[in-house]
Amino acid sequence: MAECQGDGEGAKSPMELYEKLTAQGEQVRALKTAKATKTDVDAAVQLLIKLKTDYKQMTGQDYKAGCPPSENSVAPDNGPAAGGADDEDTVDPWNVSTNNAKGVDYEKLILRFGSSKVDKELVDRIEKVSGQKPHRFLRRGIFFSHRDMHQVLDAYEKQKSFYLYTGRGPSSEAMHVGHLIPFIFTKWLQDVFDIPLVVQLTDDEKYLWKDLSLEDCHRFAVENAKDIIACGFDVNKTFIFSDLDYMGASPEFYRNVVKVQKHVTFNQVKGIFGFTDSDCIGKISFPAIQAAPSFSSSFPQIFKGRKDIQCLIPCAIDQDPYFRMTRDVAPRIGYLKPALLHSTFFPALQGAQTKMSASDANTSIFLTDTPKQIKNKVNKHAFSGGKDTVEEHRKYGGNPDVDVAFMYLTFFLEDDEQLEKIRQDYASGALLTGELKKLLIETLQPMIEQHQQRRKQVTEEEVKQFMTPRPLHFNF
Ligand code: TYM
Repeated sequence: MAECQGDGEGAKSPMELYEKLTAQGEQVRALKTAKATKTDVDAAVQLLIKLKTDYKQMTGQDYKAGCPPSENSVAPDNGPAAGGADDEDTVDPWNVSTNNAKGVDYEKLILRFGSSKVDKELVDRIEKVSGQKPHRFLRRGIFFSHRDMHQVLDAYEKQKSFYLYTGRGPSSEAMHVGHLIPFIFTKWLQDVFDIPLVVQLTDDEKYLWKDLSLEDCHRFAVENAKDIIACGFDVNKTFIFSDLDYMGASPEFYRNVVKVQKHVTFNQVKGIFGFTDSDCIGKISFPAIQAAPSFSSSFPQIFKGRKDIQCLIPCAIDQDPYFRMTRDVAPRIGYLKPALLHSTFFPALQGAQTKMSASDANTSIFLTDTPKQIKNKVNKHAFSGGKDTVEEHRKYGGNPDVDVAFMYLTFFLEDDEQLEKIRQDYASGALLTGELKKLLIETLQPMIEQHQQRRKQVTEEEVKQFMTPRPLHFNF
């Protein structure tokens, strides 16, 4: 194994510190070359030593020039990589939970995962580069975290294009509203940047993790593809694939899987994903399969064998462990690290302590729900930040920060002013819980009905077209 790599979880500061250290090393060399005074050189050396000590403390590793910290490296006292320490929120591909009624502490997660905040500067820059008003998910901090987004935009400004990669684990026929979040945003990114998209359907993953047959997983993949197509993707710009089909059909894809497998140890995946000795070996090697679409050479039919096309992955932050691993491996196998845009979670109906999940029907609004089911679920299950009685509510107001109906509206109501007015009215007590829920029901019902209409129009022939490996309408 290369000596640069380490186990465990990433943190933002190691890379920042590494970059500071590298700059400080150069500064010391420059001062010595310029024959600066002893005082100046000593001061610069002192700072260098201090930075090295901080680095060791933070990462548990010695600083080595030219050897950046592993994305999965952490100080031993920063808690386990999979899940969180006892007092921390748990966020991994299988579990999301927090004790806080307002939801996961995303600021803390940025620090723990070592990503960067999507701040106003980045949102403004996306607006400038794309020439479009930022999507409401960007305006409202729903896509709140990123990796290397500035690099993607720098290159795009120099006419170097990129591609999008996202995915879905087809565990059932019906997707829920939370699953739509990355796809809605991916569609917007594809439209404003005019770039190719690959969508991985990990039917293999669901076979390995769930008590399902291979046939069912593959069938769910095709059914889920219809929902994804119904989001409005352009067939000329989009390739959707089932792992069970594409792994066998594309030697280039499988080669990349094997390259990743060779460069990640069992120890590392145990650290990142929490695998144990009793997990089947399919699970242990699966992360390499989710990594492979991050490399353009996995799709020679689209990128003509080029391995230097930058990838950008929009997803909720639960998927980040896969891509911390991918980014760690990429330079060691001669590939670019994928960039990422992470979203917050669309909460469960019962409250933001956990995300909406397909395995518990009562936590979720499904894309197959009827208007009546939507109404009943919202009225019956949506956790309310309102007071117990109308009198108290009018007097003290409700709490929009923990109110699920309000949270859902922040995802789907397009008008910023209307949303702010609802927030104020609810907080002041002018708007009652029942009225807020009615607003949500009136927003969700037509949205889901329209989705169902679009899905009905997706033909088997169209699905086949999207899922056939073929060139897309781009010149690489
Ligand atoms: P899966 O099927 O669990 O989720 C599909 C996508 O939906 C996101 N997501 C959510 N977003 C907001 N709120 C929620 N409550 C919520 N629940 C799920 C997930 O982050 C994901 O983006 N292993 C993956 C499939 C996959 C993938 C990828 C996902 C393969 N390659 C690349 C993203 C990017 C999975 O099982 O996703």
